Amino acid sequence: MATAPAISAPKVKQTRNLINGEWCEAASGKSFDVINPATGEPIAQVCQSDKADIDQAVSAARKAFETGPWSKMSARDRGKLMFKLAELIEQNTEELAGLEVLNNGKPIGEVLAADVPLVVETFRYYGGWADKVHGDTIPVDDKMGQFFCYTRREPVGVCGQIIPWNFPMLMLAWKWGPALAMGNTVILKPAEQTPLTALRIGELATEAGFPPGVINIVNGFGETAGDALVKHADVDKIAFTGEYKTAQLIMANAAPTLKRLTFELGGKSPNVIFADANVRHAVNGAMAGIFFNQGEVCCAGSRVFVERSVHDEFVDSFAKKAKARKLGDPFDPTTEQGAQVSKDQYDRIMGYIEVGKKEGATCVAGGEAAFEKGYFIQPTIFTDVDNDMRIAQEEIFGPVASVIPFDSIEQVATQANKSMFGLAAAVWTRDIAKAHNFAHLLRAGTVWVNCYNTFDAGAPFGGYKFSGHGRENGKAGLDAYSETKTIWISLK
Ligand code: NAI
Ligand code: MG
Repeated sequence: MATAPAISAPKVKQTRNLINGEWCEAASGKSFDVINPATGEPIAQVCQSDKADIDQAVSAARKAFETGPWSKMSARDRGKLMFKLAELIEQNTEELAGLEVLNNGKPIGEVLAADVPLVVETFRYYGGWADKVHGDTIPVDDKMGQFFCYTRREPVGVCGQIIPWNFPMLMLAWKWGPALAMGNTVILKPAEQTPLTALRIGELATEAGFPPGVINIVNGFGETAGDALVKHADVDKIAFTGEYKTAQLIMANAAPTLKRLTFELGGKSPNVIFADANVRHAVNGAMAGIFFNQGEVCCAGSRVFVERSVHDEFVDSFAKKAKARKLGDPFDPTTEQGAQVSKDQYDRIMGYIEVGKKEGATCVAGGEAAFEKGYFIQPTIFTDVDNDMRIAQEEIFGPVASVIPFDSIEQVATQANKSMFGLAAAVWTRDIAKAHNFAHLLRAGTVWVNCYNTFDAGAPFGGYKFSGHGRENGKAGLDAYSETKTIWISLK
């Protein structure tokens, strides 16, 4: 990868809510600190909303959905607005990348190579779909030739979207892309840790020409602002990405109003290396699988299963690379790993590292915090891990890999599936039949063969089991934001 250009921390300009096309403070006048995880110091005070602000945003989104210009706009024009937003994001790449680094702690090289281009592509991809979602004409069983029956795909309505802090911009794009393409209106509740890029993209959306009320952004905490959105009787759908325990709460709280729900939750994804793999490639894949984005990735390859005959060779090389990984200032273009997002997340990861040591696993790399200042953690690898240990079953969401040896395809398939989660998996082998057979055995929403963490706006993503409901991206993403209406016409 070419070295990224030097970018410095941009000035934070927007800290308010976007409701009905206007930027406004929270009704209560309250705000909260947003922190730079690389230093632990505050960067900005962002307005702290609760039910009163959610009520305003929902009524703006409802009005825009039912009577605003958006409700009458042609699908092709909706697509054009999305293309315009993609273009504005692309033109503001450096500022957005800088804000993401400042607020999340991830390295600038990755933000420029992955986050920003994926966001732009998501808006272009879904902008392209806007005028291509067709209904069907249905050949109903109609002996008298009386009926013409057809379907229309219509938007779900007002969509509440609650996103996490690990890919703040990209999660926004995954939520807005399909929702706007289908003609919904949205209320985004960014993660309280990382609202800054969403607010800047909100400004760009206004500049692109989205009518008032189509896109609303309400800042605040999950327990107050998020909760009010979930419980609001006039919200048709909640799309959520985050912890499964939060999803359980959302499901219960959304039950009285019977909202549509889609969830993208966590994982404990198996990354399986067979002895016939190119071990050098597999080590690089395992590095990317667990350490990309500081391990704060829902599909992180946190359980690394290695066939026993190559186990020691693999571990040697994996540990060497982990120890050589460059941690440091996320704005330094040569930095490979930045800071964990928050003190809470840092404490949680350090807690799990202690759990691993106590459970009797062997720490062959890392295992400690990295610097005095900021929330940095060394890339950590445990060996002698049993799949039943807590470090192999619970989502850590940090740079901590568990290596587990195996002896046969049947054994490793059973172990790989022995998890409450089913988001992703990877398999490394040169045997094409084994690769396909193994991919079919796994209960996971994505299986990578001889690669890891490849994403595309066109490729559906989501989980089995506790990893979620529904799929985002691709054509499947549109289903989650549309209703099918069936229309019968008597021709007699
Ligand atoms: P979380 O699930 O609490 O937060 C995600 C979003 O949900 C945030 O916007 C938050 O404000 C909102 N939220 C929280 N409680 C809510 C409620 N009662 N009603 C409505 N919205 C609510 O995740 P958290 O606490 O930040 O992280 C805890 C763990 O969750 C992590 O350590 C990680 O294991 C997992 N996680 C998984 C993610 C994924 O991509 N699948 C992303 C973030 C966290
Ligand atoms: Mg939480």
